[in-house]
Amino acid sequence: MAKILIRGGKPLNGSIKVSGAKNAALPVMAATLLSTEPVILKNVPDLNDVNTMARVLQALGVKWSKIGSGEYSFDASGDISEEAPYELVKTMRASFFVMGPLLARLKKVRVPLPGGCAIGVRPVNIHLKGFEALGAKVSIEGGCAVAVADRLIGNKIMLDFPSVGATENLMMAAALAEGNSSIENAAQEPEIVDLANFLNAIGAKITGAGSPVIKIEGVERLGGAHYSIIPDRIEAGTFMVLGAIGGGTVKVEKCEPEHQHALINKLREMGAKLEIHSDMVEVSALDGLKGVEVKTLPFPGFPTDMQAQLMVAMCVARGTSSITETIFENRFMHVSELARMGANVNTHDRTALIHGVELLKGAPVSATDLRAGAAMVLAGLIAEGRTEISQVYHIDRGYEDLVGRLKKIGADIERIEDPEIDE
Ligand code: UD1
Repeated sequence: MAKILIRGGKPLNGSIKVSGAKNAALPVMAATLLSTEPVILKNVPDLNDVNTMARVLQALGVKWSKIGSGEYSFDASGDISEEAPYELVKTMRASFFVMGPLLARLKKVRVPLPGGCAIGVRPVNIHLKGFEALGAKVSIEGGCAVAVADRLIGNKIMLDFPSVGATENLMMAAALAEGNSSIENAAQEPEIVDLANFLNAIGAKITGAGSPVIKIEGVERLGGAHYSIIPDRIEAGTFMVLGAIGGGTVKVEKCEPEHQHALINKLREMGAKLEIHSDMVEVSALDGLKGVEVKTLPFPGFPTDMQAQLMVAMCVARGTSSITETIFENRFMHVSELARMGANVNTHDRTALIHGVELLKGAPVSATDLRAGAAMVLAGLIAEGRTEISQVYHIDRGYEDLVGRLKKIGADIERIEDPEIDE
């Protein structure tokens, strides 16, 4: 299996372009199931997760093709199946996004339960309770979530927690329900706004996305559109942290600074210098960083998906930092990997205390999940000596050609497809 090799300590300088947002592309792709006319999506990142979602859609009866770089067409006008395939769904939690659109379109759906993952149990109870509020009968049969309804009828849905996935699934289901719905205590992430904008582009009537109350006026049918996915704020954030720790100046291009307030504030509090332009952020921290406290929260709070990467900066900041993880119960897998590189981090329950050290040292480490993997790359780039990262398929789920892009800003990094042959 592939590995990433890094010889750390090279100053990183230059521009790096951000791809389209994985977490916006996946629900928008699922939403093409609602449309009976062709849809063209642009700025779709070239990632394994995108490929998996395309295969799930294909198995359901959607015709799709790649028509250019980052550009795909989807046609769900033919017969669509109500049953999502276990073999594909089990490999990617986001496949569960097909449940809302299939229920809205076919009034019956059967999707394998996605199961937990390395960072937590990740149940789907909030999604299912919302489908019930819209009039569906929901049951669990043979490991699958099953929902059936004679009609989907708009309703007020109060979420127990502002779940990103549940807000998206319910917005898609309510888009074709009869009458008006509201989702209260809704997630406010930029990806929710992107999905609402896409749905409105194909004819839905949704207002309030990006606020805690989303209003949806059901429509009878949804059509086609050309739509461009927003930039990936987590990828942009990862590169911004790199600017703060890489010993040079990094220009993060094609990003949306408006989506980054929490991270920008924290990096500035740590002493980094950030220049914000309309779609570019320039980051450096030539005088080093100092420790801060961070708590992960739903948007607009500090994103859990940036926690591992910021921890790397904290590992080499002056003084003590802390991170409290409130979204996922088991998201400190990167701590033991960072410890292998000389980091001084103690965890207690959901809080990590990070005591800054002068230098991280290269070591063999694992990418234990997607963002932990990104953190290992950051750590390897600033560490003294050689870092070898295994399980890089996690990184491939969320970062398009990471190695190629990092090389362009001066990183000594390479990907080895079959380490046995190389060594
Ligand atoms: C999405 C993102 C993921 C990010 C997360 C939080 C995608 C594809 N993934 O995941 O990268 O880390 O938001 O910002 O967009 N929960 C329940 N019951 C539910 C649903 C969620 O208890 O029915 C819990 C989860 O276990 C978790 C918390 O709510 O502890 C947040 O989950 P949620 O916002 O739903 O995250 P995802 O949509 O899975």
